Amino acid sequence: MSALLELKHLTVEFHTRAGVLHAVNDLSYSLAAGETLGIVGESGSGKSVHALAMVGLIPSPPGRIVSGEVLFNGRNLIGMPERQLRDIRGKEIGFVFQDPMTSLNPVLTVGRQIMEPLRRHLKLSQNAARKRAVELLDLVGIVDPDRRLDQFPHEFSGGMRQRVMIAIGISCEPKLLIADEATTALDVTVQAQILELVRDLKRKIGTTVIWITHDMGVVAGLADTVQVMYGGRIMERGPVSAIFRDPRSAYTWGLLRSLPGKITAPGQRLYQIPGSPPNMVHPPAGDPFAPRNSFATDRCRTEVPPLRQVDGGAAGHQVAAWYDLRSAIANQGAQS
Ligand SMILES: Nc1ncnc2c1ncn2[C@@H]1O[C@H](COP(=O)(O)OP(=O)(O)O)[C@@H](O)[C@H]1O
Ligand SMILES: [Mg+2]
Repeated sequence: MSALLELKHLTVEFHTRAGVLHAVNDLSYSLAAGETLGIVGESGSGKSVHALAMVGLIPSPPGRIVSGEVLFNGRNLIGMPERQLRDIRGKEIGFVFQDPMTSLNPVLTVGRQIMEPLRRHLKLSQNAARKRAVELLDLVGIVDPDRRLDQFPHEFSGGMRQRVMIAIGISCEPKLLIADEATTALDVTVQAQILELVRDLKRKIGTTVIWITHDMGVVAGLADTVQVMYGGRIMERGPVSAIFRDPRSAYTWGLLRSLPGKITAPGQRLYQIPGSPPNMVHPPAGDPFAPRNSFATDRCRTEVPPLRQVDGGAAGHQVAAWYDLRSAIANQGAQS
């Protein structure tokens, strides 16, 4: 499989009153055509910022792309003129962001908002765009789509609005769909329906997907590859089965232990990773997770660990850690 998307050393900062905030730090990864990448990590990990930076949506100032390349089909999106980016956004790269900039406009009908990219990017006529909009609403599971098109966003439930956002995101059959916390605000039943819809769409139109969420549980059923981010860096990355069955980063391990399904005994409290994410104006010197990691060594506190292939791990399973998680856990067990 050839890479559809390749990030090379992407670094993004914000100039805040408190100082320079290092949101995304030397981030590199690639994504094959047809792959579904799940990106997880607590709030503030740089998930949204890196995605916005890719498509030229970082507000500048205060944001600044310090360095790096984002190759999409071999073309570098960083530094690309806004006019060209506008042709790529919504057409070749669709997104569903939980962001006021890209959510539905309350004063325009839903139909108009679905038809806009179809008319602009695909140059469809009014009639053809309307016909396609009906098909799209139908595709995302909205009943009575023709009538629904003439309604306003407030006439839709939260789940229905999210379906509309997905319809817009996929309207031009993008090569890449980026969904950022697309189901976070929805109840679990609707969330499950949306995830089923995305799986279905992948089967039908073969879109490559980046699914960003703070919820480890969501990526389990959707992603081929999971990428765990923290402090604007990749802590661990690999095939979904490797990440869930054989985590090698203490951070991934903590996220997995915090999953609700992990409650075994009645009355047992859900695990919570101690401490809170770092202040990225003054990030830790070494491994960003070291201050919260009981397995951290002196080296973890002073030197950033590179992302490397896991010893004896699955193909493509990479971790950034100086400690060896499995022996650290075994030692801890022996001591207690
Ligand atoms: N507009 C902004 N101005 C200043 N800091 C920002 C801005 N947007 C994001 N950040 C900071 O960048 C870091 C990464 O944020 P973000 O990518 O939104 O995290 P995530 O999506 O993983 O929750 C955080 O420390 C956040 O506070
Ligand atoms: Mg976010």
